[in-house]
Amino acid sequence: MAPRDPAIAEMLVEADELQNRVRQLGEEISRDYADREQDLVLVCVLKGAVFFLSDLMRQITVPCEVDFMAVASYGSATASSGVVRILKDLDTAIQDRDVLIVEDIVDSGLTLSYLLRNLQARGPRSLEVCALLTKPDRRKVDLPARYIGFEIPDRFAIGYGLDHVERYRNLPYVAALAE
Ligand code: IMP
Ligand code: MG
Repeated sequence: MAPRDPAIAEMLVEADELQNRVRQLGEEISRDYADREQDLVLVCVLKGAVFFLSDLMRQITVPCEVDFMAVASYGSATASSGVVRILKDLDTAIQDRDVLIVEDIVDSGLTLSYLLRNLQARGPRSLEVCALLTKPDRRKVDLPARYIGFEIPDRFAIGYGLDHVERYRNLPYVAALAE
């Protein structure tokens, strides 16, 4: 086996814990969105949430669609600037649709609170958030996230979509980045 990368510090969420929780979230979402007139629209926030989205969507049993948004809130630093820019907008019009934002991690909450305001202004029928991870200690704004996978401590997390300068997204687990 290749030697372990010294930048990967302690384990935060094991691969099988991730898969079990994603299955539970899929079941919960499927129950909550049963019998809707129109398909649920999953809004995946690029790039980190792609991995979570693709596992989650396969555990959802109600009719659903996916669309993508890209926003920039972080450069290569590990702290939020609070400035959010839309790099890629949705292709779908979400007026009168049930919309579920799928995010990798809620840190300060600034990115999501901007996205919620932006999407709410388009008049969806409903708008909720599903975030795989949350760091409650770092929250700067109050956020109504309906579905949360795991609460993690105040560490910079990598893996399962989460990057540090674009690396480590491919890890099948979530670990802390070495200080
Ligand atoms: P927020 O605006 O501070 O909530 O940060 C949101 C975005 O920053 C997330 O969608 C991630 O892309 C990134 N981010 C925040 N914390 C981490 C982390 O611990 N590891 C990797 N990316 C993070
Ligand atoms: Mg990122």
